[in-house]
Amino acid sequence: MKKTNLKFVALAAIATASLVSSCKKDDPVVTPMTMTLYDTLGGTTLVTDPSNTSKMVEKGRLAIRGVVDSSIFVIAADPAMAPYFPTLLGEVTAGNTTGFAALSDNFTTFVATATGAKNYTYTGKNMKDAHDPAKNPRMAQKSTAADFDIFVGDIVKGAKKNGVPDAIIGRLGTILNSVKGDVVQR
Ligand code: HEM
Repeated sequence: MKKTNLKFVALAAIATASLVSSCKKDDPVVTPMTMTLYDTLGGTTLVTDPSNTSKMVEKGRLAIRGVVDSSIFVIAADPAMAPYFPTLLGEVTAGNTTGFAALSDNFTTFVATATGAKNYTYTGKNMKDAHDPAKNPRMAQKSTAADFDIFVGDIVKGAKKNGVPDAIIGRLGTILNSVKGDVVQR
């Protein structure tokens, strides 16, 4: 083999060895295909919570909380939804936002974990009990399938208000619709 060829073979061997050593079998492969909806919404990156600057919050949770809070306002203003929420609406009208804050927190955590959040734990009622007036008197009556669809439509409006792109709203809709069987009880 000529001297120049030998040089080439040696260089190729070094290049192959460094490629093999920098790409181990167990390295996690992160591609857009493996991203959860939570990752797409900002994921676990910690940012200052704009509503409490002494706290940090994950970007994914913050995005979901924005959608949830906007949606609660859309739902509160929707006459089709009013018969379900008399307790909450009465409290807010009287200037008491405790129930609103608790709902916002629980709803946000529920959606966050359903979209892939790992660092928050949902501690509220399961979807069947939360929407059964016998188990949750804050739910004034059982939901029909038609009102479920109106509720999801209100969340879509809340998401649009927050500038969430249509493709992401579609994925969110799929997740919300997955609990329809538990929520609709009439
Ligand atoms: C789209 C799927 C839905 C999800 C993921 C969902 C989620 C939740 C969650 C997490 C809570 C709080 C439970 C707790 O604090 O223990 C809740 C409460 C409630 N939900 Fe739903 N819900 C859905 C659909 C609906 C629908 C369709 C209605 C009515 C038509 C409804 C009416 C209520 C009411 C009235 C409460 C009690 C609010 C309060 O605390 O005053 N939800 N829901």
